[in-house]
Amino acid sequence: MTFLFNSDARRAAIFADAFTQDLPDVAFATDAATVDPNAVRYLITWTVPDNLARYNNLEILFSIGAGVDQFRFDAVPATVKIVRMVEEGIVRMMQEYVTLAVLALHRNLPAYLAQQRAGEWLDIPQIQAGSRRIGVLGLGQLGQAVLERLKPFGFPLAGWSRSPRQIDGVTCHHGEVGLEAMLAASDILICLLPLTEDTRGFLNAGLFAKLPQGAALVHTGRGPQLDHQALVAALDSGQLSAAMIDVTDPEPLPPDHPLWSHPKIILTPHVASVTQPVTAARAVIDNIRRHRAGLEPIGLVDRSRGY
Ligand code: NDP
Ligand code: OXD
Repeated sequence: MTFLFNSDARRAAIFADAFTQDLPDVAFATDAATVDPNAVRYLITWTVPDNLARYNNLEILFSIGAGVDQFRFDAVPATVKIVRMVEEGIVRMMQEYVTLAVLALHRNLPAYLAQQRAGEWLDIPQIQAGSRRIGVLGLGQLGQAVLERLKPFGFPLAGWSRSPRQIDGVTCHHGEVGLEAMLAASDILICLLPLTEDTRGFLNAGLFAKLPQGAALVHTGRGPQLDHQALVAALDSGQLSAAMIDVTDPEPLPPDHPLWSHPKIILTPHVASVTQPVTAARAVIDNIRRHRAGLEPIGLVDRSRGY
């Protein structure tokens, strides 16, 4: 029985140690060319390899990341479970990034950076945290974790998901009507939605128009969810005051793209959160144990929903 690791060598070494120590009856392999394809029961990868069909005893396809939009589900046999990455390292990093972004936007950092470049020493009236309403699109592992981390600052917190949720200290919305209500009351909107057919192009002119004037955006979902032109237009008109953007389409952006130099945008190169190998190996090993015990792996993807 083999676990095939298809990612970088640094993380492979850490996974290999964890398997040797905690799951010694599963052989750990990194070389698809020399592995016996019939022995491969588990595969971890970022994209689905073209020759997936050769692993005819495959039971679980693990994503090395939290997202699974890079997988073509129809290329994966229906008998194979698809599992996204749920591990504490990725959660912690996303909490850090979104807290950084929310505080930067709350404390007018993009405007102060522009003033610094212009040699201007001017104060901007500061709104108190209790009056800065935060709305999070997506209440999954990451959306809930960032809300938890934002609680001590005293921002009024809200979130939106497909199905109804109840979270202490958070006003939860769902569905179309819930979306309108949350957008109208979000001074800083954070996108942590998975990319699906429903969320492609979600952050568009219509959505920006439903936010309070001068609202700000944090985008850490997926690039194709954001209409870049609509973002620039909303920033230029003042409908949005600023944005911190971690994901774009394409990645990287072409050199002449307006997002690089827009004074109201802070741009980072898809680094909000990165799978941490020590904690990820533990999570994957726990999931294999769960699967062998007849339990559902944590992070099992519902193919019909797309996440
Ligand atoms: P989860 O699957 O745990 O959560 C997804 C959430 O989005 C759920 O609350 C779900 O609703 C909600 N949702 C999905 N579709 C819709 C919809 N059409 N309408 C309303 N709500 C919807 O995902 P994670 O929290 O683990 O990750 C979210 C995304 O973050 C990833 O898919 C990835 O794209 C992105 N990401 C980005 C990283 C970066 O570095 N920038 C790093 C890691 C992840 P419900 O609760 O009802 O199911
Ligand atoms: C992920 C990512 O999905 O890094 O884990 O975006």
